Amino acid sequence: MDEGPRGWAAPLYGAVLDATGVGAGTRVLDVGCGGGGFSRAAVARGAQVHGVDGDPSAVERAAREVPEATFAVGDATDLGEIGPVDVVGLVQVVAHLRDPRRALREAARVAPGGVVAVSVWGREQDCDVRAFGEALAPWLGPRRPPPEDGPDLLADLVTDAGLEIAVSEQVGCAFRYPDEDAVLGPLFDSGIGRHAMNTAGPAAVREAVLTRLEQHRDGAGYVLHNTFRVLTART
Ligand SMILES: C[S@@+](CC[C@H](N)C(=O)[O-])C[C@H]1O[C@@H](n2cnc3c(N)ncnc32)[C@H](O)[C@@H]1O
Repeated sequence: MDEGPRGWAAPLYGAVLDATGVGAGTRVLDVGCGGGGFSRAAVARGAQVHGVDGDPSAVERAAREVPEATFAVGDATDLGEIGPVDVVGLVQVVAHLRDPRRALREAARVAPGGVVAVSVWGREQDCDVRAFGEALAPWLGPRRPPPEDGPDLLADLVTDAGLEIAVSEQVGCAFRYPDEDAVLGPLFDSGIGRHAMNTAGPAAVREAVLTRLEQHRDGAGYVLHNTFRVLTART
């Protein structure tokens, strides 16, 4: 997944697969499959996997990376003739959807008697990647404060869609960067990195980021500890 360095999501994928009981022959639908990371992890457990994503280039990449699975361009809110399946995974997807409730209802429809798993980032204070936003804050303008502990929006979303929550858990995933270039390269390519560089120039951005990351130093590189939330529900 492109949200962090290669391989970071292995514990998250493992937790979703454990919570949903994926094993040999389980029919899995990977909604918002991106480059196929979760599909690959499901295939490694012997599952029969189909993935859909709205982005044709992601589907192409997934098909190349995971030839054992099938993939198609599709919309999470209209799964059409897909299914029935045993497990639907929406791994790091609901936050990207305009109508996540509809996507969850669709997931439930294609997995009758099955399980739907949803993952999202944990609370901002439990995710070290906030260091990037903090370092670039002087050039990014005002931002909305993160929601404090309050109503459980994800649980409400899932139950509103008619699903029955079975398991809710936190999963830790470390983002490991072997050196400065591994951190700065992807950051300079990102939307916030480009915006900050256009305003302040690369040297100032580099200095701000590396200073903020000093507390996360690990040998020649850096490690950022992040938390994710996985909610598993019966249809
Ligand atoms: C952060 S990525 C997650 C990728 C993948 N689940 C993984 O674990 O590697 C979010 C993905 O959701 C896809 N997406 C966003 N809106 C979508 C929609 N309405 N229908 C299908 N896919 C969508 C994006 O194209 C992107 O690949």
